[in-house]
Amino acid sequence: MKRKLVKLIELPKISTDGFLCFAQYPDHIPFPIKRIYYIGNVSGGVVRGAHTHKKNEQVLFCIQGSVKIVLDDGYKKDSVLLKNPNVGVLLEPKVWHEMHNFKKDTILLVLASRKHEEEDYVRSYEEFLKIIKK
Ligand code: TYD
Repeated sequence: MKRKLVKLIELPKISTDGFLCFAQYPDHIPFPIKRIYYIGNVSGGVVRGAHTHKKNEQVLFCIQGSVKIVLDDGYKKDSVLLKNPNVGVLLEPKVWHEMHNFKKDTILLVLASRKHEEEDYVRSYEEFLKIIKK
């Protein structure tokens, strides 16, 4: 499979005194946003994520600090260091993802296409491989 794993999304950034970034559907985000959540205060060395979603699509922005996002489609892996508040990464369904190297001040903002549904998660890597190779 040759599809590009890391798909970056660049938002407008208005820099006057400080910065202001914005994201709207369909101009910047490829799906209507149903949910947002944010992650912060993660201890050094902790890896978050380590799952995939069957249907939920997300875009991740690191709005403070930095974090490394590792993507894996079951055939290949790639990663991106998110460190600019206006540059996010698209996380398509059925892509395994992990978040590494959180800094003390990192805040990760996530825009999601669906409401939270535990049944949409695949948390076993073995199960993930079965799903994508079907
Ligand atoms: P999870 O998505 O597993 O976080 P991470 O991948 O960063 O480790 O979610 C952690 C917990 O929070 C899990 O019990 C589900 C819950 N949760 C919600 O209830 N609603 C949400 O929108 C999200 C993202 C998580």
